[in-house]
Amino acid sequence: MTQETPKAEGNPLIVIGDQIAPKAYLAAFMQSLRAENELLDAEEAIKYAVCADSSDVAQALRRHLDSVKMILIGPGLLGNAITVARMLSKKAHIVMVIDNAINPLGSDPATIMKTQKNLEELGVIIVMVKKATDEFFQPVVKDYVLSGLTAGADLASMSPEERADLIDKRLDAVSKFPSLPDTQRKVSALDDLDSPKKWAAAIDEDIPTRTVILRILNSARYSFRSRVETIEQAVTLASSKTIREIVTACSIRQIFQKTAEGTIDQFWRHSLATGFYAKLLVLPADPAEQSSQQKTEFERYQLDEEQVQTLQDIKLWQNINLEEKDDPFISGLMHDVGKVTMLMCMEDSLELVTALIGTELEEAQAEGKLWAHSVIEIERFLMKDIDHQVIGGRLANKWELDSSIELVITHHHDIQEHSPDLLKLIALANLAASTLFPYPATAEQHPFPQLSARIEKAVKSKAGMSLDEAVNEAINQDTFEDLVDVLNRLDISNHLWEIVDFKTFFRLCYIIAPKIKSASIAFLQQTG
Ligand SMILES: [Fe+2]
Ligand SMILES: [Fe+2]
Repeated sequence: MTQETPKAEGNPLIVIGDQIAPKAYLAAFMQSLRAENELLDAEEAIKYAVCADSSDVAQALRRHLDSVKMILIGPGLLGNAITVARMLSKKAHIVMVIDNAINPLGSDPATIMKTQKNLEELGVIIVMVKKATDEFFQPVVKDYVLSGLTAGADLASMSPEERADLIDKRLDAVSKFPSLPDTQRKVSALDDLDSPKKWAAAIDEDIPTRTVILRILNSARYSFRSRVETIEQAVTLASSKTIREIVTACSIRQIFQKTAEGTIDQFWRHSLATGFYAKLLVLPADPAEQSSQQKTEFERYQLDEEQVQTLQDIKLWQNINLEEKDDPFISGLMHDVGKVTMLMCMEDSLELVTALIGTELEEAQAEGKLWAHSVIEIERFLMKDIDHQVIGGRLANKWELDSSIELVITHHHDIQEHSPDLLKLIALANLAASTLFPYPATAEQHPFPQLSARIEKAVKSKAGMSLDEAVNEAINQDTFEDLVDVLNRLDISNHLWEIVDFKTFFRLCYIIAPKIKSASIAFLQQTG
């Protein structure tokens, strides 16, 4: 994956994603392999590895890196063969053997034809089981394994249009891309200064969204004196900005609720925590600097004195300058939409990613480390240059999102010196949110929650100190080396620490974490 992983040199390797069984196509394949190998010296001989399920295929790729020349996907592969083919199509040559009784490409002729065309455009070779004879396999093995042809051009060398087209094909964007709900579209077209009546007209017909808005505004977080009964009242009482934020949250939740993966709540908690951190980190904590709206927003976090004092001491808001149109909460909510889009468009892709997260973690732990590589590196490893930012970028483009949000979605892991402050803010909020709710790694896997637990333990042992002092000491002494090691391993841009030094940042996040956690969980329940 990086220079640290030893490169497996040597014999070319074919990964067979299937189960070993007395099947004619497998016998034909073996026969053509033997025929080729008889002509080769031992050190050039083609080897093969059998992987029964899709995550084993990913593991084999990881272990053997450049040796894998071809992946043969048979009808017996456990997991979603089409996803494996799409994800890995630029990583190695892929041949799929299709047996309509076991692994058809779709449930009806039209879908089958479309999927086949789409996969073939990605360079996947598809063969029906009856035609998978040694005459078929022999030239395939020669061309793909022995000729040294690479599986595909690098994304970097393509024009933006070619690049977008290729990404869409790999995601099967035509049939699988989620569309933006009508209410979200209508609300995006409204101006903050439009009349409450106009806002109500855009939302009223959408009963689920309307219900969530009223439920949230009547919750303890908002504590209005009288009950909010209509959207018109809601806009008047809570500001159109708040309504826009809730509508966005409802839309994202609605869209991605349909993903079959069971981790949507985990994703949602991560996104909400990122939004709540981002919003709080830029709110002035000093009453003298708060506008009346900021004062109200600040009070909704229900911070205790110690938490307010820490925010006031660090004054982070003074170092982050947002543009008028920037919305930190919405940006935080949406920064990782590419991750769930990937799950929607490539069913079972999460299993491949999490399989590698697991292996990486075991290897890191064997070295006494908390973490090996970031999830984004794992995605890029599997999909060759495609990661959730690239996928999110296609979504942002199709949804015609604001350029500032599009930038957040496409670059939150790629912070440069001159990146806009909104981007830096979301990158920071994303790190902070990962200490509470990482995604897709679990809290047991991700290093930040573990560091957080260690800080907690150290703080408890420091009786007689203020919380701020105790956390400061815990970060400076008890967890310092591990924190630095993890930040290096995750390849976090140092430009973030020009805004606030990392020790101060993690101290602040730790201190306000309980309030971010409760705000996220309450919001999750209210939008559910
Ligand atoms: Fe991300
Ligand atoms: Fe994230």
